[in-house]
Amino acid sequence: MLKPLLILSALVACACVSAKSSSTNSAPNGGAIFRASRCADCHATDLTGSKAGPSLEGLSANWTRSELTEFLADPAAVVSKDARLGALNMQYSQDMPAYDDLSSKQRDALAGWLLTK
Ligand code: HEC
Repeated sequence: MLKPLLILSALVACACVSAKSSSTNSAPNGGAIFRASRCADCHATDLTGSKAGPSLEGLSANWTRSELTEFLADPAAVVSKDARLGALNMQYSQDMPAYDDLSSKQRDALAGWLLTK
């Protein structure tokens, strides 16, 4: 009697997992990418920054969405051309890593999400 019950509960669990993964087919979610990419390790979950990275609040004062999308793929290239970012870079022992493993769609979604903060 116990065995069929176990099989049934395993089937139910499988159904839940597949329902969850099918929802990731929709447009990329900037907040989820921020968490999955571990940006918070340096910028904190609430974006207020840490010893390893600056605050990411109010980015819209300095960035457009497309600039930010490009920056995420190659931060060092942008830092080397921008006096404000150059000065910011001096305050941290580690540079911002490049996120060129994210697709441009993912970087765009992340940039859009960041600009609402
Ligand atoms: C290892 C630490 C570290 C990680 C991880 C990290 N950053 Fe950074 N970030 C920095 C540092 C340091 C700077 C300052 C510029 C520099 O030194 O490259 C910076 C700068 C920035 C800026 C520019 C801030 C401004 O004032 O204009 C943005 C936007 C940003 N990071 C977003 C992100 C996002 C989004 C992620 C995850 C995809 C991320 N960072 C991951 C360390 C990090």
